[in-house]
Amino acid sequence: MADWDLLLTDARIATMRRGAADYGAIEAGTIAIAGGLIDWIGAAAERPEGRAAQTRSLGGRWVTPALIDCHTHLVFGGQRAGEFERRLQGVSYEAIAAEGGGILSTVQATRAASEEQLYREALPRLQALAREGVATVEIKSGYGLDLDNELKMLRTARRLGESSGLTVRTTLLAAHAVPPEFAGDADAYMDFIIEEILPAAESQGLADAVDAYCESIAFDAAQIERLFARAQDLGLRVKLHADQLSDGGGAKLAARFGALSADHLEFTSQDGVRALAESGTAAVLLPGAYLTLGETQQPPVGALRDSGVPIALASDCNPGTSPLGSIHLAMGLGARLFGMTPEECLAGVTREAARALGLGHDRGTLEAGKRADLAVWDLDHPRELAYWLGEHPLSELLVAGRAPGP
Ligand code: NIG
Ligand code: FE
Repeated sequence: MADWDLLLTDARIATMRRGAADYGAIEAGTIAIAGGLIDWIGAAAERPEGRAAQTRSLGGRWVTPALIDCHTHLVFGGQRAGEFERRLQGVSYEAIAAEGGGILSTVQATRAASEEQLYREALPRLQALAREGVATVEIKSGYGLDLDNELKMLRTARRLGESSGLTVRTTLLAAHAVPPEFAGDADAYMDFIIEEILPAAESQGLADAVDAYCESIAFDAAQIERLFARAQDLGLRVKLHADQLSDGGGAKLAARFGALSADHLEFTSQDGVRALAESGTAAVLLPGAYLTLGETQQPPVGALRDSGVPIALASDCNPGTSPLGSIHLAMGLGARLFGMTPEECLAGVTREAARALGLGHDRGTLEAGKRADLAVWDLDHPRELAYWLGEHPLSELLVAGRAPGP
């Protein structure tokens, strides 16, 4: 009997271990994989004795943790290029939302789409991420906004995970906008989420976490507190779209509930940053939405960094504010628009993204005991991952030690 299923030799490894300098790099490294996990990783010269069923040289290529896109809305109907054109002519996102466009126009298209159609349209988006080295993707609901359509979106996301062999984490975002049936009565819709949608999603095992949009055009802190309290009663962790268009105290609200992450954060105050640091909540920065909305207020990257808040980066792939299907481009934009270092960008789509999904214990860095989710690159150095724009020089993706598949 072999000790290992696969032995990868002659690798340059960016382990991305927390606290390690310089990408946690190991030159002339070896990775021993057994049962889908990393059994041993280190310099070839220090490898313990053992027999491998298969041994493969990586020819000196760089290996990083497989990438993680920890904030997407990649299941949706239709597209919003017409709205994009209007925004370029000066109409604001908020004004379009107030007219019943924006999120609600995607709600209409998503409700009209069959489950099969949603699946077929989302699958290429997921496959494009996999071609860039992504093995774990979070997908939110939030364009159904009624019981059947929210569950339809979550089932579609689950099916995408099953058929692709990637890990898909699903997040219930029924509190994304107030649907037409409850127009003008956000409190009544919140009651409906709490009494009907959330318990159904939980009992059917369709949600890994619960999210909400805390903003003047969506829900206020008092409404979201009721949702989060119920989510926690049901044993679900929470996340929050916070302080994207204004400082609504979203970061502090997320921190009060020990949220996995607070996302966007362009308008987060110093107090908000402190609260995130104290609660251990990850910041998820979304440069695709910042770019598309023409924002000028940057998230407080320096303060987050100085306070030790884990900073993740994600695509926020959605048809309204971030029609971005590339985690590599999100990295490139994180460096250019937010001043993150290339190493922070890579940590943001590996170690810190895992943390933002509550998966830090089993992925996001390359260490013994973690999943063998690995990306192998045709690059001279991992700093190039945030440098190239629109390139994704992936040589190979391994998910639990194997080529991904159902
Ligand atoms: O993350 N901020 C709210 N939600 C999405 C936008 C969704 C939409 O406009 O369709 C976001 O940016
Ligand atoms: Fe979002």
